[in-house]
Amino acid sequence: MSVWVQLAYLIAAILFILALKGLSSPKNARNGNLLGALGALVATVAVFFSGIGTRNLPVILIAIAVGSVVGIIASRRVKMTAMPQLVALFNGVGGGAAALISVIEFLHAGGESIAALIATVFTVVIGAISFSGSIVTFLKLQELMTSRPVVIPAGRWVTILVAVLTVVAAVWLVISPMTWLLIVLLVLALFFGVLFVLPVGGADVPIVISLLNAFTGLSVAASGYVLDNVLLIVAGTLVGASGTVLTSLMAKAMGRPLTSTLFGAFSAKAVTAAGSGEDRPVRSAGPNDVAIMLGFASKVILVPGYGLAVAQAQSTLRELADLLTERGVTVDYAIHPVAGRMPGHMNVLLAEANVPYEQLKEMDEINPEFSSTDVVLVVGANDVVNPAARSDKSAPIYGMPILDVDAAHQVVFLKRSMRPGFAGIENELLFDPKTTLLFGDAKDTLTKVVAALKTT
Ligand code: TAP
Repeated sequence: MSVWVQLAYLIAAILFILALKGLSSPKNARNGNLLGALGALVATVAVFFSGIGTRNLPVILIAIAVGSVVGIIASRRVKMTAMPQLVALFNGVGGGAAALISVIEFLHAGGESIAALIATVFTVVIGAISFSGSIVTFLKLQELMTSRPVVIPAGRWVTILVAVLTVVAAVWLVISPMTWLLIVLLVLALFFGVLFVLPVGGADVPIVISLLNAFTGLSVAASGYVLDNVLLIVAGTLVGASGTVLTSLMAKAMGRPLTSTLFGAFSAKAVTAAGSGEDRPVRSAGPNDVAIMLGFASKVILVPGYGLAVAQAQSTLRELADLLTERGVTVDYAIHPVAGRMPGHMNVLLAEANVPYEQLKEMDEINPEFSSTDVVLVVGANDVVNPAARSDKSAPIYGMPILDVDAAHQVVFLKRSMRPGFAGIENELLFDPKTTLLFGDAKDTLTKVVAALKTT
């Protein structure tokens, strides 16, 4: 390989590392993303100068063209709220590609050394698990199948059996490489990926996506070893490491060890969905009442959630915050780490509306502030402020740290109905005497509150 290609690989690797650094803060995330894309471009172009030959060039170019068109259309069309499923799908395809490359290398070279064989087997197993597991997470999040835990009879034992058979087939393949055994291994790993993800339900699915993402990174790194490609090893390791860190941060934000996310579900009971709650009395009010409450407060905290993203009301929320600030009200945004449907969802959403980053307060920073707050305006959030996470051991969100909204003097919820949030459980705070509900689409109700505030 020419020194120029090696240099290009080095530049690409540096760009990937800088991309990760940029992505670690919302301020620099856009630049980080661009650096990562540039790194991928450098790496892809460099491959053409690495002596791959011209035999398959037309097929490669067609594949790149098709992939680019699909990627551009998908990323332009996808709604922000559907981003996790897109990530799951892309991730699964990455794992599947790594597995396929190793299968093809095996068929060509038949495993030249024990080390190469071990790397091949590793890539096939982890890549296939990542592929089939990611497809199931996609189906769950896209609601093409139930997003609740799917518990099959004796599921734990079937999964253990398939895991043991996979390990046996993998070891056997390393000892005596045979094509039929490789196919069996591939099928077992695909099956294990499905069994692994089926019992994971609802709010835990994004954690599993992140874990599978780390798996894909590892399988890509191992495929780099099979192909003797340093850049794949570097890029795969970066994805594996960052995916592992993200997985552990998300598990922490949900307040549960990763093991209980993954294995707790084998004994999961189906969660009973909350009732509509409409038979219990709640206090509701109109936009004018809410405008008066906010306008005469001295300290207000805004809690954005998934519903803000659905309503696309981020700019209107910012307008409200600006109006209140002009009136001398202290305003902050409380950001829960798993509010919305993907890590950093609320940061991205509010950044779109140019909300100053300093006004966004993370959970640990804002929680002591609620008790001295006059009004908390909860806009399309539910689970992340549900006190059941502290007190109800049977709740699926039990143990998840929440925003201590119930400590404030008054709480206003903007939502369309009494339906529960993602976890499907009732929120007692909605029935609390200090809570007021303003029903309607958040964009609509916020617009009315802003209009009323201007005349108050
Ligand atoms: P949720 O608990 O899902 O509550 C969303 C609320 O928004 C609901 O009360 C809904 O009530 C309301 N809503 C929906 N559309 C609305 C609209 N157009 N206008 C006004 N309100 C609307 O959201 P959350 O508090 O942000 O919590 C996030 C949940 O998702 C957690 O359980 C979390 O574990 C899970 N999760 C998080 C992630 C990540 S990483 N962020 C990924 C997947 C899942 P109505 O239907 O009555 O309007």
